[in-house]
Amino acid sequence: MCGIVGYIGVNDTKEILLKGLEKLEYRGYDSAGIAVMNANGVHVFKEKGRIADLREIVALDVMANIGIGHTRWATHGVPSRTNSHPHQSSSKRFTLVHNGVIENYDLLKREYLADVTFVSETDTEVIVQMIEKFVYEGLDVLEAFRKTLTLLHGSYALALLDEQNSDTIFVAKNKSPLLVGLGSDFNVVASDAMAMLQVTNEYVELMDKEIVIVKKNEITIQNLDGETVTRTSYIAELDASDIEKGTYPHYMLKEIDEQPAVMRKIIQAYQNEQGELTIAPEIITAMNNADRVYIIAAGTSYHAGLVGKQFIEKMAKIPVEVHISSEFGYNMPLLSEKPLFVFISQSGETADSRAVLVNIKEMGYQSLTITNVPGSTLSREADHTLLLHAGPEIAVASTKAYTAQLAVLAILADVTAKSRNLDPGFDLIHELGLVSNAIEVLCDSKELIEHISREFLAVTRNAFFIGRGIDYYVGLEGALKLKEISYIQAEGFAGGELKHGTIALIEDGTPVIALATQESVNLSIRGNVKEVVARGANPCIISMKGLNMDEDSFVIPEVHELLTPLISVIPLQLIAYYAALHRDCDVDKPRNLAKSVTVE
Ligand code: G6P
Repeated sequence: MCGIVGYIGVNDTKEILLKGLEKLEYRGYDSAGIAVMNANGVHVFKEKGRIADLREIVALDVMANIGIGHTRWATHGVPSRTNSHPHQSSSKRFTLVHNGVIENYDLLKREYLADVTFVSETDTEVIVQMIEKFVYEGLDVLEAFRKTLTLLHGSYALALLDEQNSDTIFVAKNKSPLLVGLGSDFNVVASDAMAMLQVTNEYVELMDKEIVIVKKNEITIQNLDGETVTRTSYIAELDASDIEKGTYPHYMLKEIDEQPAVMRKIIQAYQNEQGELTIAPEIITAMNNADRVYIIAAGTSYHAGLVGKQFIEKMAKIPVEVHISSEFGYNMPLLSEKPLFVFISQSGETADSRAVLVNIKEMGYQSLTITNVPGSTLSREADHTLLLHAGPEIAVASTKAYTAQLAVLAILADVTAKSRNLDPGFDLIHELGLVSNAIEVLCDSKELIEHISREFLAVTRNAFFIGRGIDYYVGLEGALKLKEISYIQAEGFAGGELKHGTIALIEDGTPVIALATQESVNLSIRGNVKEVVARGANPCIISMKGLNMDEDSFVIPEVHELLTPLISVIPLQLIAYYAALHRDCDVDKPRNLAKSVTVE
């Protein structure tokens, strides 16, 4: 979703800002802009489309040592040059970039800015015009900034330039992520450390409702009462090479291939010196104190939660409910007496999930976040965190984070089970090792999977995924992957459910991808396949070794029955990848989607 960068120092800022925005491209955006300030004033360049389009219009001869930049994912107003950031006040003294949503912008417009002519349809322009208004009324810029912030309802990460304070970037945040990066003779601002790793790996975290006055050689953090806050910096443990594609054509393919290594990293990270799986005792106590676990998540993470429910219920015998965060927010079920909330989120920033976390914390309940991003909002605000150790995931379509989520959930279930003297029935370290090897085998079968993708999905406009039990949940994820990046309308169904309506959509040649990895339902899912074949469907059966039959298109290696989602998802990820590739879609940056959805 939207991204922010800013730089103040001794070097020319244009390239630093543009490179920073390129690093944020993966988050999803539809327009971008930068503003740089020098002795001649502020120069704004913005464009609809990609950073490459923005690069074309940035005047190379404008040199400046201070600037801000933004990638916009449209919420208020269509994607256009006019609506893209930075936005300026009427006199052009103030220039602002903003991530988040101002809920009361219309009210503020009517109450404070009735005589102002607005250029854009955005909520952001209201903020910059209010700052100017309060300055006209006699406040200094910092007072005007602070007063404006106290009137805003909603989420914001802001970076502001003032033509009359050419040595300062004014920064503020509430709910939307924002960091200040430190350097020698320069400082930077970024909504994600990745954007500015090119110049520094030392960052200072900001808390909600804080303002930062960023100068070349110092930063001052204040709360909204104007009191100075001290905070130590941290080193972002990111390797710049982790966020490069290397020789891969797409991040998605690189991240699919990284999955065996991620499995091994997770096993290592959760093993103690005796070689046993281990999890912080307070987390296991929280699990054992709960009479029910509520998993809250969105998108792919929600699908991981569905599988996680099976792990926790079957291994640790604790009842689990899995909820879509945006639904749970306003439609809370009747809770058990001692609930534990588990938030699953690759980014740790999903606004819908955070809204639930804020709510359940107010109700006094315990929370655990399972995330890929240490220090992310959901991680900071929950009582406990388990990390995925998957390394940065750049492609919008989540792959390695999904399998990492499954592995960490399995470990959580296993350690909890053992603490309750329950025997999970298998050696998880050994089984995860087998999973890692099996993923490697599948990643080596790309040619065959590409062929399957062509055969089944070359010209279709829709596709169905079916499975029973745990295979059904993987089917949901397979369908999500396919629609996200290839724009083929794809849906996942429980094998027995398709005939209750959706079978009406089956025509000659409609692809139906069926998963058959579970012995107990192997024959019934094959029965469902026969039902659709009788109506003309083109079936693609993906089965597990030992359960396979002649009619199957692809056979995955055998692993423990409960862990099959970790490997049956791999061909589905690759099928989606090749379908998108053959349709000439932008695999890593699908239209309309954002990697980290920071608005509710
Ligand atoms: C967005 C992404 C999905 C992701 C979902 C949840 O919609 O495009 O890939 O699954 O957000 O994100 P999270 O970071 O909370 O796992």
